[in-house]
Amino acid sequence: MKGLILSGGKGTRLRPITHTQAKQLVPVANKPILFYGIEALVQAGIDDIGIIVGETKREIVAACGDGSQFGCKFTYIDQPNPLGLAHAVLTAEEYINGDRFIMYLGDNLVVEGVTRFVKQFEKNAPNAQILLEHVRNPSDYGVAELDGDRVMKLVEKPKEPKSDLALVGVYLFDQNIFDAARAIKPSFRNELEITDAIQYLIDQGLEVVPHTIRGWWKDTGSVEDLLEANRLVLERLEPESQGKVDASSEIVGNVVLDKGSEIRNSVVRGPSIIGRNTKIIDSYVGSFSSIYNDTTIIGSEIEHSVVLESCLIENIGVRIEDSLIGKNVNIQRGDRKPKALRFVLGDNSEVGLV
Ligand code: G1P
Repeated sequence: MKGLILSGGKGTRLRPITHTQAKQLVPVANKPILFYGIEALVQAGIDDIGIIVGETKREIVAACGDGSQFGCKFTYIDQPNPLGLAHAVLTAEEYINGDRFIMYLGDNLVVEGVTRFVKQFEKNAPNAQILLEHVRNPSDYGVAELDGDRVMKLVEKPKEPKSDLALVGVYLFDQNIFDAARAIKPSFRNELEITDAIQYLIDQGLEVVPHTIRGWWKDTGSVEDLLEANRLVLERLEPESQGKVDASSEIVGNVVLDKGSEIRNSVVRGPSIIGRNTKIIDSYVGSFSSIYNDTTIIGSEIEHSVVLESCLIENIGVRIEDSLIGKNVNIQRGDRKPKALRFVLGDNSEVGLV
C-alpha cells in the first residue's frame, strides 16, 4: 500500500499564524501537525509516501526532506492549483500506479494513529474506507448519513446536516476512486470534492466502509481549537529530560525538556513541553503549555498556552493563559513612566486584556 499526504492549501483558517508559514507546519506540542500524519503512516507500515504540495512547497520540502528522518521515502507531487481533494487524487494517479492507498489530509491529527484502519482495509479489501467522528459543527465538514453500518449519503458542508458525523481527513481507497474523481463535477465552492467522489462510489454500488473514531482534530481556525489539539497530544506525553534544571527549580508531572533547554529558579508543571534551547528563568510554566524552540521566558507566569519559536516574554506581572503566541514575538514590561501598553501587532491579531 502507498500513502498520499495532502499538504497544499493556504491555511486561511489559522491566521495570523499561517501568514508566515504553511498550516501543516504549525506545531502542536512542539511538533508540526504534518509530522503526526507522516509518523502515523510509517507506524502503520507504509514507507512509500507521496506528498502533494502547492504554493508552500519550499517550506514543506525543507521540513520533511526525502523521508529518511521518518524511515520512509517521499515523492513530492505538484498540484499547481488547489482545485479540490478529488483533483489532488487525480494529480497523484501516476504515482499511485495501480496500488491501493491511504490518503491523509496534512492538517488533520488522529490521536490514535491509523494502524488499525490500514490493517482492516488490507484484510477486508473494500473499495473505500472512511473515518467519521461526532462533531458539534457538522456544517463545517463533509457529513455522513448511515443506516446501521452502511453509508447512505455523504454531503459536503451541508447547510442542514442530517447527522453530526463528520468525515475525518483520512481515507483508504482502491483504484475506483480515480474514475469517480473523473466522473464528478465541481461543487458550490468550485472544487472537485472527495466527498462527491466517494458518493459516486456508493451510487455505483461499490463497497464503502465507515469507522467511527474518537480523538480527531483538524484546524478550524480558532485558538481554542489549537489549544485543544495541544491538550490532546500533551495528555499522552512521556516525560523526558535532555535539558538542565537547577536546584531551585521544580518539575511536576509529565514534562519534556528538549536539548539545550534550561530551567532556572522556576516551576514547570506537566503535561508540558519545553523546546530546544528554550530558557525558563524565574518563572512558572503551568499545565498544558507548549513552549517551542529558542524562546526565553523570564520573570513571568504562563499556563495552558502555545508559544512558538524565538519569543521573549519578560516580567509580565499577570499570568498569561489560553494564549497562542506566534514566532519572534516580544512581550516585555518596562519600568518607564507613564505606564502604557505599546503594541506592534500583525493583521488579524487578537489581544485580550481580561
Ligand atoms: C475537507 C473535506 C471534508 C472533511 C475535511 C476534514 O474539508 O472536504 O469533507 O470533513 O476536509 O478535514 P476542507 O478542509 O477542504 O474544508
